[in-house]
Amino acid sequence: MTSLSARALGTLIQNWRTSGNGPAYAALADRIRLLVLDGRLSLGTRLPAERELASHLGLSRTTVSAAYADLRESGYLDSMRGSGSVVRLPSRGAAALPDPIGAPDFLDFSKATLPAVPAVAAAAERASALLPSFLGESGFDPLGLRVLRQALADRYTARGLPTDADEVMITIGAQHAIGLLARTLLSRGDRALVETPSYPHAFEALRSSGARLVPVPVTTDEGWDELALEQAFQRTSPTLGYLMPDYHNPTGRSMSPELRARTLDLAARQGTTLVVDETMGELGLDGQAARAPFAAAGRAVTIGSVGKTIWGGLRLGWIRADRELIQRASRARFALDLGTPIFEQLILLELLPQYDRILEDRRDYLRAGRDHLVARLAERLPQWSVPHVEGGLTVWANVGAPVSSQLALASRNHGLVIAAGPRFGIDGVFERFIRIPFSHPAELIDGAVDALAAAWSDVARTPLLVGDEDLASVV
Ligand SMILES: Cc1ncc(COP(=O)(O)O)c(C=O)c1O
Repeated sequence: MTSLSARALGTLIQNWRTSGNGPAYAALADRIRLLVLDGRLSLGTRLPAERELASHLGLSRTTVSAAYADLRESGYLDSMRGSGSVVRLPSRGAAALPDPIGAPDFLDFSKATLPAVPAVAAAAERASALLPSFLGESGFDPLGLRVLRQALADRYTARGLPTDADEVMITIGAQHAIGLLARTLLSRGDRALVETPSYPHAFEALRSSGARLVPVPVTTDEGWDELALEQAFQRTSPTLGYLMPDYHNPTGRSMSPELRARTLDLAARQGTTLVVDETMGELGLDGQAARAPFAAAGRAVTIGSVGKTIWGGLRLGWIRADRELIQRASRARFALDLGTPIFEQLILLELLPQYDRILEDRRDYLRAGRDHLVARLAERLPQWSVPHVEGGLTVWANVGAPVSSQLALASRNHGLVIAAGPRFGIDGVFERFIRIPFSHPAELIDGAVDALAAAWSDVARTPLLVGDEDLASVV
């Protein structure tokens, strides 16, 4: 069982006192509840003893006791003699609060996802015609179908990164690829450089391989903090650097060619393996010229996926790396899975010849979504600062006050589930930011902005109620 120190919890709930106008115990309980709801506190984690937390936060023991009692009553904490207070989720039906799962009137904007492109259904039919010729084989496929690896390799070659089929491995989505690379490259205590904010499930994968994360800031105005990047490389010699140079999730920024070259140089000097996540690499929204993959400029491992282009439900991604690393990563699979399903690979194989057209349509769709969201936010929440988004699926809006967790909690009472800014950091920061996806249809974006506007006025007024949903995944 993981135990959380008062200091670690204090870091995760920075600015908690700004939550609500209600009593302090309720604000504290709300903030801990949000950590559970959005997956930053794993179920089964033991919270610090009341006395320890009270002394760390400079509160009376009564306030912390009341907060823990509130969490117990709402089903988020089990307190047992001898084992302390352990995080849990309310059992369904036990709580009388709204439950977003399966409720059609709840909008889920915690995920930046897209419906499948229409071509998937027809490709699945064609794939089923191809399937019989694979049925005589074992179906255990740790590297992926050679014909698909070749097709992806050819695409890299055409985009300026000469690639051989042996340098590609098919994975169960990009998340699987991040996890496999973390397991292959990292040992306990190694440093892993990450951008902050960044994609939270990458933090989880890197941490679960024992890495200590070294943050480098990315802002919507300035992009990557070059000085911080240099210092992070030079001072910590990270074993792995996980980067999203195109297009960064959640800011939508793209890294300049000069900084790419500098990053490659720093990584080479420090012996860092760069793992470049290009899940959104071809989703530039300003008609900008297609960028070559990052690895075309120097040594880096590339992660790709069709989750944000064709459909997340295909669960297909890949790693592009040198042969030796591909072999090591494929062996690292066996502890957890024995290969990628064949049928989905055949569907992707059928879709790849049309991939450029699919990407064009996706960019058009996302550009319209971005423009719609930005216009609606300007109308309903003009006080927020909404930067221009170069690419990807999300806006990283600055709400102007450190109230993002509170806003995310209040949004639930207006039918919207959305991840608070700190979900995208590693140390409780980003309370002034909220990530809003524009990948959903326009009418859902309208509903989400209405809910945010209503929640925004609540934040100024009322103590908060929350739903009891487990929304641990943010994609
Ligand atoms: C940057 C980034 N990497 C990886 C993933 C996971 O992708 P997949 O669905 O292919 O596992 C996501 C999904 O949100 C993402 O945003």
